[in-house]
Amino acid sequence: MSRLKKADRPYDIVLFGATGFVGELTAGYLAAHAPDGLRWALAGRSEEKLARLRERLPGGPDIGVLTADVSDPASLRRLAGHARVVATTVGPYVAHGEELVAACADTGTDYLDLTGEPEFVDLMYVRYDARARETGARLVHACGFDSVPHDLGAYFTVRQLPEGVPLTVDAFVTVHAAFSGGTFASALGQFSRARQLRAAARDRRRHEPRLVGRRATTPAGAPRFAGEVGAWALPLPTIDPQIVRRSAQRLERYGPDFRYRHYAAVPRLPVAVGGVAAVGALVAAAQLPPARRRLAGLLRSGDGPSAEKRAKSWFRVRFVGEGGGRRVFTEVAGGDPGYDETAKIFAEAAMSLALDDLPVTSGQVTTAVAMGDALTGRLRAAGIRFRVAATR
Ligand SMILES: NC(=O)c1ccc[n+]([C@@H]2O[C@H](COP(=O)([O-])OP(=O)(O)OC[C@H]3O[C@@H](n4cnc5c(N)ncnc54)[C@H](OP(=O)(O)O)[C@@H]3O)[C@@H](O)[C@H]2O)c1
Repeated sequence: MSRLKKADRPYDIVLFGATGFVGELTAGYLAAHAPDGLRWALAGRSEEKLARLRERLPGGPDIGVLTADVSDPASLRRLAGHARVVATTVGPYVAHGEELVAACADTGTDYLDLTGEPEFVDLMYVRYDARARETGARLVHACGFDSVPHDLGAYFTVRQLPEGVPLTVDAFVTVHAAFSGGTFASALGQFSRARQLRAAARDRRRHEPRLVGRRATTPAGAPRFAGEVGAWALPLPTIDPQIVRRSAQRLERYGPDFRYRHYAAVPRLPVAVGGVAAVGALVAAAQLPPARRRLAGLLRSGDGPSAEKRAKSWFRVRFVGEGGGRRVFTEVAGGDPGYDETAKIFAEAAMSLALDDLPVTSGQVTTAVAMGDALTGRLRAAGIRFRVAATR
């Protein structure tokens, strides 16, 4: 379906899950930053909650409202048919996300989400990438702190290095922040699904064409003291390295042989040891349904860190890139990663898909592939820092 045909649709952007914690922050960001003439709507399952949210937003009467429920696939098809771009915060995505991806792939609607669940992304690739290529839909997962600073940061770092030579990039992530009920539920769900996660990854490997003539790898790395950033580096097995690898597979600019490693950077060894032990305990507890239920009750859907707490939160991702005799230190940094910056990144990505002049892509694509330069420019203008710290 051509982009022109989609221009007939009533809305440029529909935000589904607008009444949730990140949904409301994203709605607030759009209300404050959408350019004049952007036609956008709030969507969710509760008409009453949506109406109350709209009243609180500047420019409320001009914002549309649509209702849809993930348990009603026809309502999701209607939603997808009303929008050029659908941005959804309704997670955990492995439980709630598939029908909307299917509807967007079928109707040629661009789709973005906030998933950090590799199982979901692999399942959606196998089931809907081909259909989305036929209709022209762009399916962009992980459009929040997972994985935009890392994906666009690696892209930014690569572009400081020579072309046509093997390149390595190491990323060191430091975060000072708290999380919401929705994020906690998604993390617990993931920890309890290791078997399904491996099966989905295997299935994807069977379906995905192999890269010919180039290499892009993401070895886990080993814990070490990283003198280059003056911190303990712990391999961080999030979705981020997978997303970076897919960008490197699709874009020639990453060179003939690209290697990316992803670490948490922790200043002191006891903090590193404590962090690993805490995550290990959570993973172990998530295997037992009663313990998982008890943990899930600690933070409810819709809850999240207060504005004061978020104002004190921050993130910094330092990258060390090497290749062709050059070494570069770059950095992507900003405020509260999980919520304020995620809402900003998510809303800017939705506006980028709706409004920017982007390379022609379709199917499951990463942020670097679908919107690399345009989205980097938008995020810099919105206060997320991308900078070259040093070159040698
Ligand atoms: N990538 C990142 O960096 C990042 C950062 C933050 C969050 N996240 C992810 O984003 C997701 C949302 O997080 P959150 O904290 O905002 O969660 P939340 O507050 O629990 O919000 C969930 C939203 O889903 C809606 N919902 C639930 N069931 C539904 C259904 N059957 N039909 C339609 N809508 C339904 C809820 O609607 P009601 O309001 O009607 O209950 C609510 O709007 C989570 O998966 C989280 O992991 C990712």
